[in-house]
Amino acid sequence: MSKILLTGGFGYIGSHTASLLSEKNVDFLIYDNFSTSKYSVLERLEKTIGKKINYVDADIKDTERLIEVFSKNNINSVIHFAALKSVRESIIDPIKYYEINVGGTLSLIRAMKKTNIKKLLFSSSATIYGDPEYLPIDENHPLRAINPYGQTKLIVERILRDLVMAEKDWSITSLRYFNPIGAHPLGLIGDDPLRGKTENLMPSIIEVYKGIKPNLEVFGNDYDTKDGTGVRDYIHIMDLAEAHVMSLDYLMGCDGLNIFNIGTGKGITVLELINTFEKVTNSKLPIIIKKRRSGDVAYCYADPSKAKNTLKWKTKRDLNEMCLSAYNFSIMNE
Ligand code: UFG
Repeated sequence: MSKILLTGGFGYIGSHTASLLSEKNVDFLIYDNFSTSKYSVLERLEKTIGKKINYVDADIKDTERLIEVFSKNNINSVIHFAALKSVRESIIDPIKYYEINVGGTLSLIRAMKKTNIKKLLFSSSATIYGDPEYLPIDENHPLRAINPYGQTKLIVERILRDLVMAEKDWSITSLRYFNPIGAHPLGLIGDDPLRGKTENLMPSIIEVYKGIKPNLEVFGNDYDTKDGTGVRDYIHIMDLAEAHVMSLDYLMGCDGLNIFNIGTGKGITVLELINTFEKVTNSKLPIIIKKRRSGDVAYCYADPSKAKNTLKWKTKRDLNEMCLSAYNFSIMNE
């Protein structure tokens, strides 16, 4: 039986997608070097799916190793999650980001070409829309990256566009994720940044809830939004994982580059997310208002209708479930 290679399959989005592929009896092989995920994810993912996982501990930049893996396994497609994702770190060390996110993707494509594997699902990001010109953001919205991390995602999308123009036998899908939060219902896998690396809102909420951080910093309450705080399109990680499974089916019967927004279409403020978390966990978090974080936009939410119509995918889980599952994961992994 043919398999799917998941680069970065032990990361937050990769591990949840892997759990769902397993549920659907789709065979996969994980290729990951554990540079940004803990080794314990392997065990927790195995417990989640109830079986052993086939994986290769190797670097995406190692083209020869990728060629070897492709040659020895019956791989027919790739989901390419492996990338660095910290905006802050990308500003401090942009070259590392270009090397891993862009260089790593080029290495993967070279290996795929060599072994004649032409089906690729790419993890892109809504960050490439920059400060939106209109809302909700559809796939035709102009693209402008406002930090090196965003640049790497944009550059890769442009590389993929040029690739499918030049070589007609490729089928590539790029999923532009909005803000995934939450965790698998069993609570064994979730968003688990390495200590000191937390910068997204939900992992910060969890750290404050657990007392690891004394206060939850809200970056700006003077935006032109209903309560002054930033608006994002938070999507349950299991809904996002489902988008991958449905995109894979689409990828098999398609060619060229196809791009989809993966979000709920609903804008939620920072305070609304915090309030929902407090409500479902019956808690009160200490909050301090800080100045705006540089590079943040006031609004970012999707028009997901293309994914709905074409992939027949839609989100099923609400904000309560996102917060509850994130909480549940945090208490099961003290
Ligand atoms: N925020 C806080 N306090 C925190 C962390 C975040 O107030 O401690 C606010 C931010 O200012 C923003 C919102 O919460 O208004 C969401 O911030 P996140 O860092 O969770 O997410 P971003 O929207 O900044 O970025 C995320 C990913 C990017 C991705 C982008 C796509 O980190 O990788 O979504 O829109 F590109």
